[in-house]
Amino acid sequence: MSEQATQPEQVRKGLEGVVAGETSISDVDGHRCQLIYRGYHIDELIGRASYEEVGYLLLFGALPTRAQLAEWTTQLESQRAMDPPLTAFLQTLPKAAGPMATLRSLVSLMGVLDPSENDTSLESIKRKAVRTIAVIPTLVAAIGRHRAGQPLLSPTPGVGQAATFLYLLHGKEPTPLQARALDAYFILLADHGFNASTFTARTVTGTQSDYYSAITAAVGSLKGPLHGAANRKAMEMLTEIGSVEQIEHYVQRTLADHKRFMGFGHRVYKGADPRAKHLKEIAKRLGESVGETRWFDISERLQEAVWQAKKLYINVDFYSASLLHYLGIPTELFTTMFACARMVGWSAHVLEQAADNRLIRPLALYIGPRELKFVPLDHRK
Ligand code: ACO
Repeated sequence: MSEQATQPEQVRKGLEGVVAGETSISDVDGHRCQLIYRGYHIDELIGRASYEEVGYLLLFGALPTRAQLAEWTTQLESQRAMDPPLTAFLQTLPKAAGPMATLRSLVSLMGVLDPSENDTSLESIKRKAVRTIAVIPTLVAAIGRHRAGQPLLSPTPGVGQAATFLYLLHGKEPTPLQARALDAYFILLADHGFNASTFTARTVTGTQSDYYSAITAAVGSLKGPLHGAANRKAMEMLTEIGSVEQIEHYVQRTLADHKRFMGFGHRVYKGADPRAKHLKEIAKRLGESVGETRWFDISERLQEAVWQAKKLYINVDFYSASLLHYLGIPTELFTTMFACARMVGWSAHVLEQAADNRLIRPLALYIGPRELKFVPLDHRK
């Protein structure tokens, strides 16, 4: 069929409302405002399961038994260290290099260094996925320490992904509250249907390209401010506002300038983002624990003010901002934190796409001119 055969009324800008495929990994129910992971509502999992358990669920399809969890945890722990060529490459980069650009390059380099890069069998994809999920907190913490001019640290066994990350970034053990907070953040951001970065990963996988190419592309997609960079932009917004007294002025100015409130609005959810209430609660507790509720207070009042002014709901990125800030994570690293959490979701989708693949290739409605006559170079104006 010619692409020109597409009728204009079939075009949905941004593919809004288009069902582009099937998945059994997660369900983003926009009308009921629910997020389901492999059959479990996230409310069922949060506060009960660890990120390791949820990661296993998303990747392999069922919650692990005690023995499976022990084996999975051992696998992750044994593969957390960064390969020397990755460390060497990171250290050649300028300190000011963008964290997402650096992460994208590191994932790509992992592919270059893996002799089985082009093995697209499911077993090989699983092996690469486990390795990449295990190492991602180490990579992100290393990016943070390299930016700060600090020596890189090595992961220690016996702690989960979240606590490992906080230790590798800060050089000291996190409190149980901090470790639980980041663990919950990782769970809440682990997967989200056919969001832009996941769809990107699936599209790359659809060409029978390799795992690393799919993940590299996904990182590039997450980097955009309308997707993963919204958490960083949300923190910049809170910093710009600075105090609750400035909120009204900020809201009016943003409306007058026709700008966007970062961390508000969602393509799919028609009401409240089901992840936001959990993130809000965690951010509140973290703020109280350090005796600095300013960022939470600004966030809460801004949420109300934007609702009054424009009836916009907050999305996942809004309270992620103060939560990550309270964990001492520099704002520039925020989007890489999102990538840390989403690595498991991306990997599960690459596996699902590869297991039942068909090339993803939509049509385009051509709206340019036709039947132009060739004009020789010397006659063109
Ligand atoms: N601030 C102000 N107005 C907004 C916002 C916002 N955050 N979000 C939507 N709107 C308004 C738009 O101006 C538009 O109004 P109009 O019709 O009067 O012009 C209307 O709502 C629809 O906006 P669209 O961009 O068409 O909605 P879409 O479904 O494409 O947008 C998106 C979804 C991109 C997330 C949008 O809400 C946005 O830009 N939000 C800010 C960025 C952000 O937080 N991104 C993170 C999303 S979640 C994630 O990726 C993890």
